[in-house]
Amino acid sequence: MPKPKVFVTRIIRDKGLDLVKEFCEAEIWLGDLPPSREILIEKVRGMDGLLCLLTDRIDAAVLDAAGLGLKVVSNHAVGFDNIIVAEATARGIPVGNTPGILTDATADFAFALLMAAARRVTEAERYLRAGKWQTWGPSTLLGVDMVGKTLGLVGFGRIGRAVAKRASGFDMRVIFFDPSSPAAPELNASPFASLDELLRESDFVSLHTPLTAETRHMVNADFLSKMKPTAILVNTSRGGVLDQDALYEALKANRIFGAALDVTDPEPLPLDCPLLTLENCIIAPHIASASTYSRDMMALLAAQNLIAGLKGERLPHCVNPEVYKAR
Ligand code: DGY
Repeated sequence: MPKPKVFVTRIIRDKGLDLVKEFCEAEIWLGDLPPSREILIEKVRGMDGLLCLLTDRIDAAVLDAAGLGLKVVSNHAVGFDNIIVAEATARGIPVGNTPGILTDATADFAFALLMAAARRVTEAERYLRAGKWQTWGPSTLLGVDMVGKTLGLVGFGRIGRAVAKRASGFDMRVIFFDPSSPAAPELNASPFASLDELLRESDFVSLHTPLTAETRHMVNADFLSKMKPTAILVNTSRGGVLDQDALYEALKANRIFGAALDVTDPEPLPLDCPLLTLENCIIAPHIASASTYSRDMMALLAAQNLIAGLKGERLPHCVNPEVYKAR
């Protein structure tokens, strides 16, 4: 029996890649950069399965190029805004993602960013490297205290909750805005019915919402104007949730204390982006899930989703389960 043919759009961790190679005839894109759109469209032709990354846009053109034999699209990420899921659903193709295993790594990094912005860690390092450290100073590089402060979480899914847990160790008060999430008394986190109210009360605001048509540029000038002038914004969700021009204006005018971003729009962020000129803005290159365990498990889950789809089985993690109803 011939093995199913799949295209894997980058070298993923062996834990997943070995499984894919064992079960499939796999064509693996070996480049350090993602395949171009033209190459993706060419490579996907006639494939039974596609294992893609968040850097690949999967839309009608890609799915059409793959053809009627495509049985599954497996995304090596929990977020799936790079895929036009409705197009896959219309073709009866299940789409897989990798939730859960990157929760702790992402929450750790969100908290690391929060603390780095509060205590001006990257700015302090730049200060030292620039030879500005002349002496210990009572008022040098003063930051923001965390104990007793209020952390406002916008989005209270797995990652938001994991951030709440970390905040409790710092004796912070945690509030959240997420109309679809129930209260979480065990986490000592209080639901807020209104985003405006949450912004008014928060000393730190951390974003944990997927990028959708509704959340695109949710953080705009109006949102930022409702934050405290001493507040810090953290974004580990998706760059598109934030209007970067509005953030630049707010940070430059010190309308908020600082921001720390793991995600930008576009990615990679062009080096002439004005945000990079600001001392009160930390930007990391989308690495919140970049821990060994997390990336090993993302590769494994992506491979498991792919193989389940090829076998005609239900994906362990499927973002469009409605495809099964139609069968
Ligand atoms: C995801 O899985 O969506 C993350 O953004 C990857 O870091």
